[in-house]
Amino acid sequence: MPKKLFIKTYGCQMNVYDSARMADVLGGQGYAAVETPEEADLVVLNTCHIREKAAEKVYSELGRLNALRRFRRGQGGDLRIAVAGCVAQAEGAEMRRRAPFVDLVVGPQAYHRLGDLVSQLERAGEQAVETDFPAETKFDALPAPSSTATAAFLTVQEGCDKFCSFCVVPYTRGAEYSRPVADVLAEAERLVELGAREITLLGQNVNAYHGERSDGGRCSLGELIRRLAEIPALQRIRYTTSHPLDMDPELIRTHAEVPALMPFVHLPVQSGSDRVLEAMNRRHRVDDYRRVVDALRGARTDIALSGDFIVGFPGETDDDFADTLRLVENVGYAHAYSFKYSPRPGTPAAEREQLDDVVKVRRLEQLNALLDLQRATFDAATVGRTVGVLLERAGRHPGQLAGRSPYMQAVHVAADASLLGTLASVEIDSACPNSLSGRLAVSAP
Ligand code: SAH
Ligand code: SF4
Ligand code: F3S
Repeated sequence: MPKKLFIKTYGCQMNVYDSARMADVLGGQGYAAVETPEEADLVVLNTCHIREKAAEKVYSELGRLNALRRFRRGQGGDLRIAVAGCVAQAEGAEMRRRAPFVDLVVGPQAYHRLGDLVSQLERAGEQAVETDFPAETKFDALPAPSSTATAAFLTVQEGCDKFCSFCVVPYTRGAEYSRPVADVLAEAERLVELGAREITLLGQNVNAYHGERSDGGRCSLGELIRRLAEIPALQRIRYTTSHPLDMDPELIRTHAEVPALMPFVHLPVQSGSDRVLEAMNRRHRVDDYRRVVDALRGARTDIALSGDFIVGFPGETDDDFADTLRLVENVGYAHAYSFKYSPRPGTPAAEREQLDDVVKVRRLEQLNALLDLQRATFDAATVGRTVGVLLERAGRHPGQLAGRSPYMQAVHVAADASLLGTLASVEIDSACPNSLSGRLAVSAP
């Protein structure tokens, strides 16, 4: 009987990708995925360290898993527990001190070793902490994907050298690394063979991608996207997350010239104040960001933008915050994420004088109200239009399928299950707060 594996994923899309790859690695050890921890022999928590709340969630989940393990042992059974991801990397051995019942602690660059570590654990009860390996080693050692979603993720770049003063990523994911072009193309072809019709290229700074070509030269993200667009059955390409500084003219041109590249860009700015951007060590000014936005819209008029914002950064004044609201008004986002600044251990901004939580909460509410309004306006403007929707999954109700518009809006469509995995033309007829509804205009081939 196959052993059973449950992976719980927190954090960003890169963790979603990593979880799929961990399942591939452990599949080689005879583990099959199940839907709940209660059914599992091995539970992996793939964790996120970006804000305090995200990291604390892990410890409460670990408490529940320990109770489940005690119960199992009382019944003569067992449960093995592993922690992967960015909390594992940030806390390392400290994690096993705080939660000594954790069997394995595996950082984001070491999970290709999970197979060996799990067999040592099964054979000899050996617990382990593995946290320092370069990204190169991991990608070379991972098996090819064994399954895919219709809309797949593919990590092409990892780590970050930017060191924004609030951010843990350079510490948890390590130095910037780009996978060689041939590896990316081979993995993309494999995913398409397995049924993927959309691929989102992932990286903490994906537009800093500069992977090695077979001729020894370097390939930019724009060039990589052009190469991927040649895979016949790959209908859509996306990429995330981009840094405004790395948004080069070639990538912007790719938006004008490659139809498979979706007209939606996640381009975090964090703040609309030059003073705050400098304190954040973002290394660009508000005007630089505006210029990038204008260039993107110049390349493709229907391009929609999303962003990330941090409010209540140390030293942020009412005027700075008003500048953020002004920038949001000025740019107009289809969708965006906003966060209260969360001091992270080991980052420079955590050492600075902090703002009162009441101020942070008030600013967050104000910003969210504006972003919600912009999103509703954008969604309302889609009503009456016919857009492509990749039908990725069953919808909310029987007889419905769901997928995303080119602009990442969730769309529910009355459609036969046989259309699952196809790109359909959908006439949008209404907008709810979190999704759109529509009907098939012309069935996909
Ligand atoms: N590489 C991306 C973002 C990575 S983290 C970039 O450079 O934009 C995702 C988002 O989390 C960030 O854009 C930021 O808005 C938010 N974030 C990161 N650290 C944070 C912190 N300490 N407190 C609050 N939000 C944070
Ligand atoms: Fe973090 Fe800044 Fe790097 Fe983004 S660019 S991952 S926010 S350090
Ligand atoms: Fe979180 Fe690590 Fe991603 S800190 S946001 S899981 S890179």
